[in-house]
Amino acid sequence: MSDTVVALRPQATAAIPEDFPDSPYAQALRQPMLLGLFVPIQAGGWSASTLPRTTDWTFDYNSALVKRADELGFDLAFGLSQWLPKGGYGEVMNGMAIDSFMSLAAMTAITKRIILVATTHVLYGPWHPLHFAKYGATLDHISKGRWGFNIVTGHRAVEHEMFGWPRIEHDKRYDMAAEFLDAVQHLWREEDNFSYEPKLSPWRMKGAFVTPKPLYGRPLLINATGSDAGIRFASKYSDLVFITSPTTSEIEGALEALPAHAARVKSEGRAQGRTVRTIINPMIVCRETEKEAWDYHDAIAAHGDPTAHFLDSDAHAWRGRGDRQAESRAVGGNIRIVGSPEQIADYILRLKKAGIDGVQLSFFDFAPDLEFFGARVLPLLKQAGLRN
Ligand SMILES: Cc1cc2nc3c(=O)[nH]c(=O)nc-3n(C[C@H](O)[C@H](O)[C@H](O)COP(=O)(O)O)c2cc1C
Repeated sequence: MSDTVVALRPQATAAIPEDFPDSPYAQALRQPMLLGLFVPIQAGGWSASTLPRTTDWTFDYNSALVKRADELGFDLAFGLSQWLPKGGYGEVMNGMAIDSFMSLAAMTAITKRIILVATTHVLYGPWHPLHFAKYGATLDHISKGRWGFNIVTGHRAVEHEMFGWPRIEHDKRYDMAAEFLDAVQHLWREEDNFSYEPKLSPWRMKGAFVTPKPLYGRPLLINATGSDAGIRFASKYSDLVFITSPTTSEIEGALEALPAHAARVKSEGRAQGRTVRTIINPMIVCRETEKEAWDYHDAIAAHGDPTAHFLDSDAHAWRGRGDRQAESRAVGGNIRIVGSPEQIADYILRLKKAGIDGVQLSFFDFAPDLEFFGARVLPLLKQAGLRN
């Protein structure tokens, strides 16, 4: 075998899951609107509220939830990744969390159809592209192509410091992540040993090789961003981009701002010769009637955790938002959708019309709220032509 330094080929020429009609992602794309669940493997989920509920960070709670989402026909399940100092974000979101990569990896064995997406901080040691490529290919084979990565670079200063360095500058993080992924993607497709000398990052490789290759080109790749650098990164590497509402978490305001934002993300993908789709994560607060839903919402908000606080972040995606902080923190979600089943289905339809290709749902009280969504909203999404 030769040991060559190969020239990096542009992404557009590489095989991706969407190219294979039988890949789980290509099958999910037959749905008019992708449906995902944001799995609460961290204390408090996305809501800093003390109102009693079942939501729990444990593996048993979350694996039961993902199994149920799989049975209900959800396409995707995501877990977040965070490295918080003692105390986390306050009493409710207190930092207790099981690891996204490990817990979702375990869930590949107990699910059938759903694609599992783990959030991974590619810049934090001890990840090396070789680990990432090998573990990703392994999970791809175990899950038969139902594996994906949400690539994050770490926007909180405390996390970088925990790993032993000051936070790396925002745009440089994306340049380093690009080098990391160039290396990983080569390992997933090169038929020969591969050597690599990155310019910015420490991950040198000499004569590196990974086999087996992933079943459908590579696992699904996703990133979450609102910045120029992050969108540029997404246009080259991601199949799906988590976008946030640039202006407000209130749904009506978000619906005004999202069409231009989603169109921009997609057009940057097209400029790279790629199809990049958009997904957004709403907090769903749904009850039989609009009044009951708002009463539930207001009770969640009224129990806002007085100790809740943010940690220093340089994320661009949430800049310029005019939210009522205490309320949006207590209820949670990048956007909030409150109402009856008919209203929720209608809002999801409007998100589709705004250029959003998928929703990744959060709930306040996950197990019963997911059940209610499955019984009352899913049939309406089918009627509206959003789900097959
Ligand atoms: C839906 C969603 C999920 C995210 N999950 C994580 C996560 O698990 N861990 C993390 O460190 N950052 C997470 N982020 C933050 C992003 O990685 C990123 O830092 C943020 O969107 C800002 O990116 P930007 O500065 O490029 O706009 C998430 C963002 C969104 C919108």
